[in-house]
Amino acid sequence: MAFLKIRNLSKHFIQQDKKELEVLKDINLEINNKEFVTLIGPSGCGKSTLLNILAGLITPDTGKVLLNNRIIPGPGKDRVMVFQEAALFPWLTVIENVMFGLKINNIDKNTAYEKALKQLKAVHLANFKDSLPHQLSGGMKQRVAIARALVMDPDILLMDEPFGALDEQTRLILQKELIDIWLDTQKTIIFVTHNIREAVKLSDRIVVLGTNPGYIIDEIKIDLPHPRERENPYLVKLENRILKLLQNQMNTVGVYDEAVYA
Ligand SMILES: Nc1ncnc2c1ncn2[C@@H]1O[C@H](COP(=O)(O)OP(=O)(O)OP(=O)(O)O)[C@@H](O)[C@H]1O
Ligand SMILES: [Mg+2]
Repeated sequence: MAFLKIRNLSKHFIQQDKKELEVLKDINLEINNKEFVTLIGPSGCGKSTLLNILAGLITPDTGKVLLNNRIIPGPGKDRVMVFQEAALFPWLTVIENVMFGLKINNIDKNTAYEKALKQLKAVHLANFKDSLPHQLSGGMKQRVAIARALVMDPDILLMDEPFGALDEQTRLILQKELIDIWLDTQKTIIFVTHNIREAVKLSDRIVVLGTNPGYIIDEIKIDLPHPRERENPYLVKLENRILKLLQNQMNTVGVYDEAVYA
């Protein structure tokens, strides 16, 4: 069970030149149990910072994050992050990578092995369990990263551009696999992407962020079952609406974010 409440959250960083940079300002957001929420916004608007705050890795200046009505005390097994680069241990096999977190948590080896194998099956990688990371493609590495996150059985998956470094076909396959996993496991997912099409394809709700400092421009609910056809006129319309919001942002702050148009 995971019900997240973000209340009046702000965060600044001190830059190299000692100047203060306000990154997130007065963010208020609620994320429901089992919801798939995507954050989209210009580069530098604070998406990764927000995910890191939700993971408990960064402390906000003001405001609070409540998980099931309790302030998150820091990092926890209930929230696991998946990054753009899989960051696997190169000297460990695929299954050892997936087992790693369980071993740290003192789960006995046989149980850890069985749990890891089950997750590798879920991401269609059981046959590669004894391979080393360098023997895998980018998409396969990302699947291992997803299995490694799921094996901890978190309530919330925090995904920071998890498919951002993949080619288009692999990205499409992993999107489908993620939706299958999400429908099957009923996890809450908070997902960051620059790809508007990916956002409308996957999400129950899209939170569009503006920048300097990061704030919520709009929240768009998408009440459409899966699988979603990319030509669905409703989704195409939503894509255009989000594109306009982001283009306005870029005109306002004078940046052009190429990834948005990918
Ligand atoms: N530890 C830090 N110290 C100083 N500045 C930071 C730190 N972390 C992030 N920033 C700055 O905060 C701003 C937001 O960064 P963040 O990584 O959250 O953006 P983002 O929305 O994830 O961008 P992208 O889409 O490029 O990944 C950026 O200007 C960045 O330079
Ligand atoms: Mg980022």
